Amino acid sequence: MLEAVERRIGHYIDELEDRDAAALYARLPAGKRLRARLILTIAGSGPAAIKTAAVVEMIHAASLLHDDVIDDAFVRRGRPSLNALYGNKTSIMFGDVLYSKAFHELVDIDRRVARVVSAAVVELSLGERRDLLLSQSFNTDREVYLHMIYQKTASLIEAASEAAAILAGKNPDAYRTYGRNLGIAFQMIDDLLDITQSAEQLGKPAMHDFQEGKTTLPYIYLHEALGEADRERLLAMHGRPVTEENAAWIRGKMAETGALERARGEAEALVNEAIGLMKREREPALEAMARKMIERDY
Ligand code: IPE
Ligand code: IPE
Ligand code: MG
Ligand code: MG
Ligand code: MG
Repeated sequence: MLEAVERRIGHYIDELEDRDAAALYARLPAGKRLRARLILTIAGSGPAAIKTAAVVEMIHAASLLHDDVIDDAFVRRGRPSLNALYGNKTSIMFGDVLYSKAFHELVDIDRRVARVVSAAVVELSLGERRDLLLSQSFNTDREVYLHMIYQKTASLIEAASEAAAILAGKNPDAYRTYGRNLGIAFQMIDDLLDITQSAEQLGKPAMHDFQEGKTTLPYIYLHEALGEADRERLLAMHGRPVTEENAAWIRGKMAETGALERARGEAEALVNEAIGLMKREREPALEAMARKMIERDY
């Protein structure tokens, strides 16, 4: 099923009739294709579902091209990022090409699908902006963090799920909620993996969020749990390059205080709720997807 999505994206790239764009696309490894899998699992692999999956993956890829510029990240999907290879200008412009081609195709799929997906990309863009604004100081507000990750990440996964349900004639509300929970948990896990995994395992930078000023959920909980002296030490590290020694200290304190586990528990609760919804809809494949997502280590 996924090969049909790859072919469809390839076809959209060919339609650009631009050798430079085709060469840049060839430099972009595929990624996990979570959003495409989700759409096909819900809606099957008819032409509208394949197109929607292709469009959503192009939008996602565009958001990552811009994200790596915003985050000064030089590795993506196990390879040098396009901004590392060709500079920020190229990444931004090729991101724009992918976004606009995706929207151009989206309008002809289904009006309801177009509304849902395009609204999510507005949220995603606002979320990326909010993430950057929040990174200027040590955010300790969990609610603010939750809304930001809903916007930057969950909105598109929620929309993918709802759009697929619309195409399949299924109950959009249940699938929308499933997608939102899955999406919020997905970003929580991404934020955990940034702390616990190596760059090699992730295929993208590790211990990078805090140095970019991003205080993700484990940092919010760590800040809450530390005594005054340790808290001062943590605050002094915020937004600076993380040395090996500081990385080890952060990881140690995260484990000691239970901050990591507390954040993981929250992601698990969201996923369990999502699984419950899909039990009711009799969607074992979607239950399994949610379970696998929470257990992932990259
Ligand atoms: C990365 O998304 C950005 C986040 C929302 C955390 P994915 O982890 O789905 O990236 P790819 O597509 O598999 O590379
Ligand atoms: C980005 O979040 C989410 C997007 C919507 C692009 P991150 O900045 O955490 O994603 P990674 O870790 O670089 O993949
Ligand atoms: Mg990033
Ligand atoms: Mg980012
Ligand atoms: Mg991340």
